[in-house]
Amino acid sequence: YNVVFVTSEAAPYSKTGGLGDVCGSLPIALAARGHRIMVLSPRYLNGSRDKNYSSAKNLEMNINLSCFGGEQEVAFFHEYRAGVDWVFVDHPSYHRPGSLYGDEHGTFGDNQFRFTLLCHAACEAPLVLPLGGYTYGENCLFIVNDWHASLVPALLGAKYRPHGVYKDARSILVIHNLAHQGVEPAITYEKLGLPPEWYGALEWIYPTWARKHAHDTGATVNMLKGAIVTADRILTVSQGYAWEITTPEGGQGLNELLSSRGCILDGITNGIDVDVWNPASDKLIPFNYSVDDLSGKSLCKAALQKDLGLAVRPECPLIGFIGRLDYQKGTDLILSAMPELLKDDVQFIMLGSGDPATEQSMRLTESSYSDKFRGWVGYNETISHQVTAGCDILLMPSRFEPCGLNQLYAMRYGTVPVVHCTGGLRDTVQTFDPFADGDGCGTGWAFSPFSMESMLLALQTAIGTYKEHKFWWEGLMNRGMSKNYTWDNAAAKYEQIMEWALMDLPYTG
Ligand code: ADP
Ligand code: GLC
Repeated sequence: YNVVFVTSEAAPYSKTGGLGDVCGSLPIALAARGHRIMVLSPRYLNGSRDKNYSSAKNLEMNINLSCFGGEQEVAFFHEYRAGVDWVFVDHPSYHRPGSLYGDEHGTFGDNQFRFTLLCHAACEAPLVLPLGGYTYGENCLFIVNDWHASLVPALLGAKYRPHGVYKDARSILVIHNLAHQGVEPAITYEKLGLPPEWYGALEWIYPTWARKHAHDTGATVNMLKGAIVTADRILTVSQGYAWEITTPEGGQGLNELLSSRGCILDGITNGIDVDVWNPASDKLIPFNYSVDDLSGKSLCKAALQKDLGLAVRPECPLIGFIGRLDYQKGTDLILSAMPELLKDDVQFIMLGSGDPATEQSMRLTESSYSDKFRGWVGYNETISHQVTAGCDILLMPSRFEPCGLNQLYAMRYGTVPVVHCTGGLRDTVQTFDPFADGDGCGTGWAFSPFSMESMLLALQTAIGTYKEHKFWWEGLMNRGMSKNYTWDNAAAKYEQIMEWALMDLPYTG
């Protein structure tokens, strides 16, 4: 098939989290299976990130896009790598300091504009860009990721199909995180470039109790909702999460709508880039190792302890956390559990950036427990690989987790995950049972309910197993490291969904 991925991030060019990882590796796996794949994302320049785009060439195919009350000129940059056409949309609104979505003052106020532009550009790209000599054409399949790309299915139906274009194109919405929906005032609808009669597809009325003023109608525009209504298929990044988002607890207000989409909604667990995350060849860690020879892992642990200024003690369990400091990730649970957890003979390294109050608590915890706890505030890929390799245990107490990649990286590096039993974490981490299957089974611990007590209990069991039962621990590491994490299985399932999407009739409004 001719497939166009539309995404706000794609590693190694741009990344703030797992979305970047997935959109940087799944397209390569699909291309390897014989599909023609384009990945379209913004060309974010900010000085330090510019080098990521240095091999992408300007296609000299500038076009004007009508939205937000004017004509916006965009350029396209292109690089063909690993069998994939990486296309970067260039516009001044993507060139600014900070992260992809905001800076130290908070989220950028014009993100709805920036990503509306991306969606308009995505619809034009297959029609106009002669990549490798010929365009993708109108018979393509769009894979649109999260709210940033969610306008694409509505644009196909409302702007193009009435003119006979994209009649046979289809779209698949992939929800990586339902917590971010792109909700803006209803008045912004008229700027999106959709006809008035499509307003209902994006309209989102929030409940009466949430309204501040008597005259407030509660009407908003919800970009993600627009795609849930208009996409031909909906996927999430694990089956557990696909079910959770149809329940009031996990549905973030969209559960009834998602349930009403019935069998169009499905889940496929993410794979990982097994070349980037390979303990046997990883250049970012000081010593390489594999399931057959784990000596390098002990050396990585010693190097990490030394770098962090912690006592270099092989027998002391080293526990790690890596992630965005966000309500989703349960970092409040981690920090409030520290006084209790650190009574034990353990060491803890927490790597993350995000919520400023959490960053401050990490610094405070480090000053109170300087012999046992390190709070590394920031985003750093090298450190994330070193923590993944050097720790014995990786903690992920996420309130909800659509898939989660860190637990997969951890298992591949022989680091045993302790996770909250939710979403993709529940699907990928099996709690250790020492007495099953002869030598035991399981790859970690998945605790429930979401509470400090149950997290501590799971951690203490893991610590006890590490200290007292080396044989069992080696079994845990071995099983984790031997699992198949490649994209092969997931890519085959994506292919099936693509086939079904192309067999269905398209959404016509
Ligand atoms: P999410 O996408 O919700 O952030 P995932 O577990 O799917 O969660 O993916 C997180 C990705 O972001 C992983 O590749 C992880 O290593 C990376 N990451 C998160 N925070 C940091 C950080 N502070 N430094 C380096 N990498 C980070
Ligand atoms: C999101 C989710 C995470 C998932 C990632 C990639 O950011 O929070 O659970 O692994 O997307 O799909």
